[in-house]
Amino acid sequence: MEAPHHHHLTQPPAIVAPMIPTPGDGLVFHGPLSEARAASLITRLTAEPRPRTILDLGCGRGELMLRLLSALPDATGTGVDLHAPDLAAGAATASARGLGDRVRFLEESATNTEHGPADLVLCLGSSHALTDLEPPAHTAAALVALRALVNPGGRVLLGESHWTRTPTLDELAHMWPDASASEHGYLADLTDAAVAAGFRVQWVETATLDEWDAFESAYLAACEVWLASNEDEKLRERVTTQRSRYLRGYRGVMGQAYLTLVAG
Ligand SMILES: C[S@@+](CC[C@H](N)C(=O)[O-])C[C@H]1O[C@@H](n2cnc3c(N)ncnc32)[C@H](O)[C@@H]1O
Repeated sequence: MEAPHHHHLTQPPAIVAPMIPTPGDGLVFHGPLSEARAASLITRLTAEPRPRTILDLGCGRGELMLRLLSALPDATGTGVDLHAPDLAAGAATASARGLGDRVRFLEESATNTEHGPADLVLCLGSSHALTDLEPPAHTAAALVALRALVNPGGRVLLGESHWTRTPTLDELAHMWPDASASEHGYLADLTDAAVAAGFRVQWVETATLDEWDAFESAYLAACEVWLASNEDEKLRERVTTQRSRYLRGYRGVMGQAYLTLVAG
């Protein structure tokens, strides 16, 4: 009698096309955020008054929201983003952690969203998702939108860019196309805008250079490893450009603030 698996052995091996990685593959948070800072944010944001509803705008994979929901067994969450693959990844992670019935990931714009108000609103690296205005006006407009989306006494966690000092012309020339010093304010401008929008500033913290280096490295690492033994001109160009933008452009000049805001 023929061995049941015999014919498999005689088939030619399947030709597997090498999977070209995408920058950002493997990131946990899509921004400069360490595990230690994430843990301390979760401690602060789950303290009294414990939120019952969380809204994550421009959520991506929604990792921080999912960790908050794990720490808040009575809470429910809604994530909103335009990027379907990240939403699907977030939903899969939610199911794997037993959170599937407490969270939804919605593929829609966060601009003028009707999913508020919530007790806790997250906006991490995605203030541009809340308004059609261009930088720098988008930050103040996003804060006004966030104020309308949070319940009185609730919290907003805003992760937002700012300049640590005035960028030089040479640094600006190495950043993204048309980068200009007017795109961002300083940290104090950000907190002023939060107060003007009706918040009190409970906590100010900024990503360290180590967090930035870890984020930028993790963003490109899978591509770099792949390019060490494969060739793809477009990817090589993209990776090289991104590293130069960071190291010659915004490293140490653009900061990332995490503001814990209380709705007055
Ligand atoms: C820098 S990522 C941050 C993702 C996530 N908050 C995190 O920290 O991991 C910015 C996100 O904003 C999303 N985004 C951009 N415009 C948007 C819009 N109009 N509505 C909803 N999401 C948007 C992008 O798809 C992207 O996932």
